[in-house]
Amino acid sequence: MKIAVGCDHAGFAIKNAVIEHIKKKGLEYTDVGTYSSNSCHYPVYASAVCEKILSGECELGILICGTGIGMSIAANKHKGIRAACCSDTFSARLTREHNDANVLCFGERVVGIGLALDLVDAFLDAEYMNSGNHPVRVKMLSEIEEGTFTSK
Ligand code: RB5
Repeated sequence: MKIAVGCDHAGFAIKNAVIEHIKKKGLEYTDVGTYSSNSCHYPVYASAVCEKILSGECELGILICGTGIGMSIAANKHKGIRAACCSDTFSARLTREHNDANVLCFGERVVGIGLALDLVDAFLDAEYMNSGNHPVRVKMLSEIEEGTFTSK
């Protein structure tokens, strides 16, 4: 499994630790930047990670900014991306299992390094439960994106 990893300047300090952790788990990764703590724009890196997933090069993505929120908003603008901003391991696991989330976002200014790596483990070690009502609901998410969903 190959993981796309990206951050802005406010997530830069934690990104290398996340990458080292991914390597220790025996997974492949691609680092789309940013590569310094110079101020930059989170939509650029959110889009770079999403493009890796949508092209099929990577299966899952991890995005880090100050809060994780800007990254998740930007990522969720991409059709086919289900990004979840998490600061607890229960949500990080369940968003893979129930929502088939393909991008985990978190905030360096919100979580410490220890929790960040636990979030990564919870997300990457979980598997989508592709049965029962979960695929029905995930399909509805796609229909919302396509403009074909109606709540009536
Ligand atoms: C950068 O200051 C900060 O706004 C950004 O990293 C992120 O938290 C936005 O959601």
